[in-house]
Amino acid sequence: MIKEEEYKKRRDTLASKMSKNSIAILFSTNYKTRSNDTEYPYRQDSNFYYMSGFKEDNSILILIRKNRKYKSVLFVNKKEKIDELWNGKRLGKEEAKKRFLVDEVYIKDEFEKKFKEYLEGKDSLYFDFKLDYSKVKILKRYAKSLAIHKNIAKIIEQMRLVKSDAEIKLIKKAINITKEAHLNLMKLNKINKKEYQLQADIEYTFKNNGAYSDAYTSIVAGGNNANTLHYIDNNQYLKEGDLILLDAGCEYEYYASDITRTIPVNGKYTDEQKKVYNLVLNTQLKVLEAIKPNVKRSKLQKIAVNSITEALVELGVLKGNIKKLIKNEKYKPYYPHGIGHWMGLDVHDSCPYKDKNGKEISLAKGMVLTIEPGIYLDEEDKSVPKQYRGIGIRIEDDVLITDDGYENLSSEIVKTIEDIENLKGK
Ligand code: GLY
Ligand code: MN
Ligand code: MN
Repeated sequence: MIKEEEYKKRRDTLASKMSKNSIAILFSTNYKTRSNDTEYPYRQDSNFYYMSGFKEDNSILILIRKNRKYKSVLFVNKKEKIDELWNGKRLGKEEAKKRFLVDEVYIKDEFEKKFKEYLEGKDSLYFDFKLDYSKVKILKRYAKSLAIHKNIAKIIEQMRLVKSDAEIKLIKKAINITKEAHLNLMKLNKINKKEYQLQADIEYTFKNNGAYSDAYTSIVAGGNNANTLHYIDNNQYLKEGDLILLDAGCEYEYYASDITRTIPVNGKYTDEQKKVYNLVLNTQLKVLEAIKPNVKRSKLQKIAVNSITEALVELGVLKGNIKKLIKNEKYKPYYPHGIGHWMGLDVHDSCPYKDKNGKEISLAKGMVLTIEPGIYLDEEDKSVPKQYRGIGIRIEDDVLITDDGYENLSSEIVKTIEDIENLKGK
C-alpha cells in the first residue's frame, strides 16, 4: 500500500520542478476497445497513477503553481445512478476529497470552466507529449495562447527511477506471486500440453494469489518458438525433449515483475541443452557480479556481449577472434536484445536511460532492473551446429540496487539445472 502522504510528497516534488507561473495537467487513460463494443480490462495510466493513486477513468489531475506555492486539483466522475448501474460505483467528489490529500476536488463536468480560469496569467503548460489526440484537442482549445509547452512525462519518469520503500514492497509481492507460478510449472508434467494451457496455469496462480493481471502477455514458447523473442501465440503442443521458455510476471497493485526461466518439457535437460543453458547462466552470474551503485548499464551489456560471444565460439556457432567478432557485432543474430531494463509501474519502466545532458545514468540505490541474457539458435540457421539448432534460452531476474551492491529479488525462483531437475523429480 502506498500512503496518501507519499502521493502528496510526489506532487510537492513535481510542483517544485515546475516553472514559477505554470500549470500541469495529467489525464487518466481511456478504456481501450478490443472489438466492436467490448473493451480490454481498464488499466490506469502509470504517470497519472504515480501522481494521484486514483484508479478511475475519466479523471484529471491539475497542479497550478504560482511563485513558491502550488495548488492541486482533482476532477472525478459524478456519482450518477444510471452510470453506476451499468459501470459500477464511483468514488465521487465527497469521498475523493476525504481520501486524497489534494486541495480541491470537482466533478469532471466542471473541468473546462475551471481549466480556463487556471490558465489565466500563466506562461507555461506541462502535459504528456504522448497524450492521445482527443485530449490534445481539449488542451489546444484552451491553451493555444500559451507560448511554452513542456513534457510533464519527462519529469515524472525521472522521479519514477528510484523506488520508495513502499514501491519496493509491492514489487517484491509481485515477484513472490510470480515465483509461485514458475515453481508450479517446473513441477508440472508438460508433455503434449498446449502452450496456452501452461499460460492458463500461470494466470490462475497470479489471480489466485491476489494479482489481478499479468504485467505483460506471458511468453510460453516451446522448442524453436523460444527463438521468436516476442512469441505470444502460445498455441502449439509441447514436445517431449524440447525446452520451454517461460517469460511471465504478474502485476500486483500496479507494480510489475518480469521473470524468465527456460525449463525442460519432460523435466530433464539433454546434454546439448545443458551446454547452452549453462553458458547463458554463467553469463547472467558474471553480469550480476558486476552490479553495484555507480556502474552503468552499458558496462553490464559489455560483460554480457563478451561472455555470450565467447559462448558462441565455444558452441561452434561463431569462429575467430573474440574482439573482432564483438566489434563486428557477430553475436547479434543470437543475442539481439539488451541486458535488461528498468522495471516498476511498467514492465519496461519508461524511466530515462540518459540524463539531461545525454550522459548515461548510472545505477543507484533504489533502482530496479531486469538482468536477462539469452542465446537464440534458430532451427533453420545453418551456421549453428546441428545439435544446437532449435534451442533458445533466456534467464531473467529482477534486481534492486542497494547501498553497496544489489539484491536479487527473484533468487528463490531456482535456476540451476540441478535445482530445476530436482524440483520436477519431487
Ligand atoms: N517480458 C518482456 C521482457 O523481458 O522484457
Ligand atoms: Mn524483461
Ligand atoms: Mn521478460
